[in-house]
Amino acid sequence: MNELERLIDQASEAIISSTLTLALTGAGISVESGIPDFRSAGGLWSRFDPAEYATIEAFRANPEKVWEMLAEMDKVVSAAKPNPAHIALGELERLGYLHYIITQNIDNLHQEGGSRNVIEYHGNSSTLSCLWCGKSYSARDKRGDMPPRCECGKILKPDVVFFGEPIPPDALNRSFQLASSAQVLMVIGTSALVSPANTIPSIAKQNRAKIIEINMERTQLTDSITDIFLQGKAGEVVPALVQAVKKKGGGSPLV
Ligand code: APR
Repeated sequence: MNELERLIDQASEAIISSTLTLALTGAGISVESGIPDFRSAGGLWSRFDPAEYATIEAFRANPEKVWEMLAEMDKVVSAAKPNPAHIALGELERLGYLHYIITQNIDNLHQEGGSRNVIEYHGNSSTLSCLWCGKSYSARDKRGDMPPRCECGKILKPDVVFFGEPIPPDALNRSFQLASSAQVLMVIGTSALVSPANTIPSIAKQNRAKIIEINMERTQLTDSITDIFLQGKAGEVVPALVQAVKKKGGGSPLV
């Protein structure tokens, strides 16, 4: 058994004996589905300055310009499929070992990968809304219109949270409530740089949860909050972790 396998074994034991297990996910879990993350080399923010393209002020001031970035995101997100990491988390939920996913992603891949209890911190790009008359549309129906417009003529905004907009209150409250009583928190594919999502690991830690971090690289959590660091690609490590849980824990949790 090599070091990573030993750590996966340790992580699987924590998950098996936990009565409330959460996963906090970021863009890294969808990279193997073809969606670039934001801050790795070549990530979205290396090509589009978030101050110019990802704030609600930028959208209100110049929606046509912001749609240049949104169109590039929409192209990769609409073509993306759940990868083995999304599917493995869906299986872990079905087996009763994972209770909620709190995701910062807007790509709907957890749901398409079989997860049902998904709390979306930053919304979901599959619907668009009009900031002026409030009408809502499916992104699929408007695909190809650049920029997409409401029947009132105004340019539509995806139902995702831009910088400067609040996190949906129910997502915020529910996630803090869960984090304060979780026994295990998996943190998968996030740089943990953006608040308030990045406060979830410390809330869980303060309540003595075991923090299992899965990432290609070390983050600001790794040496301060993380208990078990599983370094590698989410698409490989998450399925291996779920396999270990199934092998040791059997079909469903004892608790
Ligand atoms: N497997 C595991 N981890 C990966 C992989 C992979 N295949 N590829 C990249 N990563 C890791 C990177 O090392 C990095 O730590 O995923 C993390 C991605 O970090 P970010 O690009 O900062 O994405 P995220 O943490 O989700 O950003 C949070 O910032 O810009 C806003 O709203 C945006 O939701 C986003 C938020």
